[in-house]
Amino acid sequence: MSEVVVSTHPLVAHKVTRLRDARTGTKEFRELAHEITTLLLYEATADLPVDRIPVQTPLTTATGAELQANIGFIPILRAGLGMVPAASSLLPHAQVWHLGIYREHSTRMPVEYYNKLPEDLNIDVAIVLDPMLATGGSAVAAVDVLKLRDLRSVKFVGLIAAPEGVKALRDAHPDVQIYVAALDSHLNEDAYIVPGLGDAGDRLFGTA
Ligand code: PRP
Ligand code: URA
Repeated sequence: MSEVVVSTHPLVAHKVTRLRDARTGTKEFRELAHEITTLLLYEATADLPVDRIPVQTPLTTATGAELQANIGFIPILRAGLGMVPAASSLLPHAQVWHLGIYREHSTRMPVEYYNKLPEDLNIDVAIVLDPMLATGGSAVAAVDVLKLRDLRSVKFVGLIAAPEGVKALRDAHPDVQIYVAALDSHLNEDAYIVPGLGDAGDRLFGTA
């Protein structure tokens, strides 16, 4: 079973604190989500394979590296969209496959409403993006979709997780590596993460 990697970086801790703050407005919230996603992806991509290639500098020939793996990002709509700009900046050639899943209010069960996975899934590593891992239902459903299409190397990158969500994802998909900026205390009676940051989608898109 793979570990959950909770960032211990001071920059991440500082930015997550600003992200949590109820006074932080939409513009800054989006910027912080972008910056934290960049820092988390730095860690989540640390094991990507590279080919050694020669590079001609102005002075000499050196040995360089070229990423060998094809990456696909799978943002879970809608809040996962807030992590796409950072992901696409870091890996501009990565594919982005949109997956729409929302939590049904009364049951809190995930409901899939949009799936734009291409016919040909020619990637080596799939990275699911969603700011919140609460009950874990949405993340498990997303990974289920990917595994049904025979994708075997899947990672999850989120901003804040609850222990309940980490457990659910690890129980359902023990091979999926989980990277988050913070692991919070618990879920409240509405299945919101405490202390959390509220509704990530609403805060990203100004719909609170
Ligand atoms: C939020 C969040 C996750 C999900 C997490 O989405 O972005 O997808 O809840 O909760 P879970 O772990 O209990 O499944 P939401 O359903 O609010 O939809 P939205 O992104 O469209 O606002
Ligand atoms: N979805 C959110 O946006 N926030 C939570 O705390 C839980 C689910």
